[in-house]
Amino acid sequence: MQTVYLDNGATSFPKAPGVGEAMADYLLHNGANVNRGTYGKASAAAMTVLETRLRLKELFHFPGKEAEVILTPGHTYGLNQILLGFLGPGDHVIVSSMEHNAVMRPLMELQAHGVEFSRIPADRAGRTKAAELLPLIRENTKLVLVDHASNVSGTIFPLEETAELCHARGIPLAVDAAQTGGHRDVDFGALHLAALSVPGHKGLLGPQGIGALLLEEEFASRLRPLVTGGTGSASDSEIQPDYMPDRFESGTVNLPGAFGLHKSLGFILEQGIDKLKAHDEALTARFLDGVRGLPLRVAGPADPKQQVGVVSLDFTDGDNGEIAYRLEKDYGILTRCGLHCAPNAHRTLGTFPQGTVRFSFGYATTEDEIDYAVRAIRTLALEA
Ligand SMILES: Cc1ncc(COP(=O)(O)O)c(C=O)c1O
Repeated sequence: MQTVYLDNGATSFPKAPGVGEAMADYLLHNGANVNRGTYGKASAAAMTVLETRLRLKELFHFPGKEAEVILTPGHTYGLNQILLGFLGPGDHVIVSSMEHNAVMRPLMELQAHGVEFSRIPADRAGRTKAAELLPLIRENTKLVLVDHASNVSGTIFPLEETAELCHARGIPLAVDAAQTGGHRDVDFGALHLAALSVPGHKGLLGPQGIGALLLEEEFASRLRPLVTGGTGSASDSEIQPDYMPDRFESGTVNLPGAFGLHKSLGFILEQGIDKLKAHDEALTARFLDGVRGLPLRVAGPADPKQQVGVVSLDFTDGDNGEIAYRLEKDYGILTRCGLHCAPNAHRTLGTFPQGTVRFSFGYATTEDEIDYAVRAIRTLALEA
């Protein structure tokens, strides 16, 4: 039986060509730390880290300096850094209705310490109208942070319009680009973003354990570091350096991860976002066409122009858990079933508490694999 990997929303697989080799090559033949030594191997590793920042800068049209591209231990860390490092008692923050727990759980922690939040409403497909932000803005609104595309339904958030509204009012806008990084063009400069966090292991096609946090200069100056410690710089002082990226990069960076991400970013830039996006949209359209008319509900817009390649199905006549199990056992199709760490997204979509079976596509997913999955879904949905 073949294996069809349709869980790219959780983590991409396969990774970009050469990622594993680049990581192994660093571990086997270099292995040096950066910012800690001046010998040749250390400089070579530092050069790769620098190029990784430059590639991220290029991919996200980041107008700042490469030093303002922070390499994080992961995306959840990056989101926590934004929220916990910026907000304090008496502040108000606005988020979308579709947020992942990587945003909601730190927010709940903050709420216990006097931070208030509001959610911009969304319809039953997870769609939001940017103007609905306006009545939520208060005098103490310090930040708007939104999920660019839902990890449950794929629904794309109206980022451009929201960015205009925030920019006109001087409210910093931060973006969770977990499901759009590497799949859609995200223009940090044109959107006047304050911050963007992205994992290395999803659409960026790199390894787990590394992410990036891009910070606008003024916003960065108002952000407290979550973690402080050794940076290999200013070693005469016990005070955290205030310059970038050291201010937010304490401890040794995940260097095998950086080598892997360096490689995968090279691949993405070479392919170009337009090509990756067109592939993602074509697969999504094919999948949505294939499941139309079956006894199931697409929890989301069911429109490839309004969503990324993440499609959630709720099998109205069957048990979602049983169907996900049968998809793997009988067909070798790997999906994710449940609530996908985003309970309020499911409340919004009307799929709480039963959850959904989520199918998510990647650059290596083929049309044949989509057709195979559709045939399997048809069989299981009709026999349920
Ligand atoms: C929209 C969104 N935000 C945040 C996260 C958390 O990312 P990670 O687990 O890589 O830290 C995910 C991962 O599923 C996600 O899809």
